[in-house]
Amino acid sequence: MPTEQLTTAVRVTDVTKSFDDVAALTGVSFEVPAGSVLGILGPNGAGKTTLVDILCTLLPPDSGTATVAGHDVVHDGAGVRAAISMTGQYAALDETLSGRDNLIFFGRMQGLRRRAAIARADELLERFELSHTGKRPVYAYSGGMRRRLDIACGLVVEPAVVFLDEPTTGLDPRSRQEVWNLVELLKADGITTLLTTQYLDEADLLSDNIIVLDRGRVVAEGTAAELKERVGGVHCAVTPTEPADVDRLAEVLRAAPGDLRIMSIGADALTLTAPDGVDTLAEVIALARGADIALHDIGLATPTLDDVFFALTGDAESGVGSGSDTGSGSDATAEPAVSAASPGDVA
Ligand SMILES: Nc1ncnc2c1ncn2[C@@H]1O[C@H](COP(=O)(O)OP(=O)(O)OP(=O)(O)O)[C@@H](O)[C@H]1O
Ligand SMILES: [Mg+2]
Repeated sequence: MPTEQLTTAVRVTDVTKSFDDVAALTGVSFEVPAGSVLGILGPNGAGKTTLVDILCTLLPPDSGTATVAGHDVVHDGAGVRAAISMTGQYAALDETLSGRDNLIFFGRMQGLRRRAAIARADELLERFELSHTGKRPVYAYSGGMRRRLDIACGLVVEPAVVFLDEPTTGLDPRSRQEVWNLVELLKADGITTLLTTQYLDEADLLSDNIIVLDRGRVVAEGTAAELKERVGGVHCAVTPTEPADVDRLAEVLRAAPGDLRIMSIGADALTLTAPDGVDTLAEVIALARGADIALHDIGLATPTLDDVFFALTGDAESGVGSGSDTGSGSDATAEPAVSAASPGDVA
């Protein structure tokens, strides 16, 4: 890590990369503040791994510039490599050695003296809750333990920037949670983390900022909250008992004082913005009651990153895996899920 205090850990400017006739990155730019977590979100083939590979100096960009911890990826690859660790989809672990011996080996490789390498290995085992593994060889580890060890190996000499390429793909919920805890630990240490993921809940939970990549370009960036705001904020979905009452309810809501705003009217339900959350909900119930309109269902829905993702990238060809059931396509006024509603008549 360079001696001057860096406020921007990663700076990417107009980077392009093609493989023969496949344009994997078509002019990508963004910055990552030091000590923050950037979530890089995108469907299969969006260019996430290509981007990470360029930033880790495994691939040269065709054009554009990128610096990591102040080092240029093209002109100072050694500087970049000394400042980063990359873990995720593959691991250079020796299967026949214990986790501890792997960690000691990594420390020695990176120039630690034996005693220091052992101390660091024990510290990391403790921290990553692997101390109990003792002499057990890595081939007998569970997937989650292996992933934790994989990440720990990248931290033997503390890096400025950590790249995690789909760190939780293929893990069970418990192991995913363990990896998430690790990302929090990295953050507490002031380490900048770039995390690619296809799981929107993961990006939501861990990232300070998110960039959404689609077909090689950045189609959106911001905090999870900002991205959700773009697809409409919290809304309220109302289903009258009689579908014929939908239009009448819309009239009543439009005529009401205040700023109730109808987003969409469907065959049997309508949605409106709910800037005041449950207060909006209560107001709608009262208005419906006043007009003698029985309600079958009413609920608040907060847009998820899934909604954002589908709105931004179009749902048809994306292979993203956290499963939106909200049915919202690229239309920002699409109907939200009403799962927050309690079943039964409320009016
Ligand atoms: N070595 C390569 N040779 C040819 N094409 C490649 C190569 N690496 C990537 N590509 C292509 O570049 C595009 C971006 O791929 P990349 O692996 O970066 O996507 P990704 O976002 O990481 O996808 P995934 O979510 O599946 O890991 C894809 O169309 C891919 O087929
Ligand atoms: Mg990838």
